[in-house]
Amino acid sequence: MKHLLATDGLDADTATAVLDTADELKHTLLGREVKKLPTLRGRTVITLFYENSTRTRVSFEIAGKWMSADVINVSASSSSVNKGESLRDTALTLAAAGADCVIVRHPASGAAHRLSGWLAGPGTAVVNAGDGMHEHPTQALLDAATLRERLGSLKDRRIAIVGDVLHSRVARSNIHLLSTLGAEVVLVAPPTLLPVGVEKLPVTVSHDLDAELPAADAVMMLRVQAERMHGGFFPSAREYSISYGLSERRQALLPDHAVVLHPGPMLRGMEIASAVADSPSSAITEQVRNGVHVRMAVLYHLLASEGAAA
Ligand code: CP
Repeated sequence: MKHLLATDGLDADTATAVLDTADELKHTLLGREVKKLPTLRGRTVITLFYENSTRTRVSFEIAGKWMSADVINVSASSSSVNKGESLRDTALTLAAAGADCVIVRHPASGAAHRLSGWLAGPGTAVVNAGDGMHEHPTQALLDAATLRERLGSLKDRRIAIVGDVLHSRVARSNIHLLSTLGAEVVLVAPPTLLPVGVEKLPVTVSHDLDAELPAADAVMMLRVQAERMHGGFFPSAREYSISYGLSERRQALLPDHAVVLHPGPMLRGMEIASAVADSPSSAITEQVRNGVHVRMAVLYHLLASEGAAA
């Protein structure tokens, strides 16, 4: 693997190899007081974030440090981006300074792909940590890791992805990855929060959450992306919560084995009731924990394995 830019096009063997590595790393580190492996000693990993983040940035930093890489965090607000430096110049600067891998989050869809082109010369690996409304591949990988742990194989499992699908890079990455791994994906959303061209995606579509829950093996609640809603006919917070929020009443419609996911940050009380988010069915904390091991695995496959970029 040279870069990780999207799950669209990521084949099942590569995705499974990353998930298996994450599983192995998790078990290797389990119960260890000192979580440190020498695998990436001497390698430099830079996170370059143009949008806010807690989970993704922190877990990439921990992942790199647990593998002994030197990890440097650059945020747009405290870098020369604030003086008007372009994404291209910033990326080339980081590569010239010695980055082996740049992990980028950017509001523009396609930014990570552009970066991978600019950094082809220096041979720097690029990881997409979320680009606009396009993709967030490591989130989908950590979601798949969590679902594998709870459900075993994803084959023929029915996963409902609920809410603001239109603006969600998490939804898009999950649609591609979950279907590649053999799951059935149903999108549950109001018509105004579904993307144009949804009929070309490997999904079924529903507008009725109550009707979908009894057959779901997992329900993935999405964050409402108010920052990306410019105009348009979107439901109010109250309408959204009534029709698409996961309340305790709705949780009772799920099969006993069903898993509740949310990528975070959560709007408790609107997208998901606190009692549901904190219930035994919820795997939200496990998602965060698995995020570290999945990101370690991604760095391993990019920088240390046989298939890694030279
Ligand atoms: N799920 C996710 O991407 O969270 P952050 O925005 O906190 O990184």
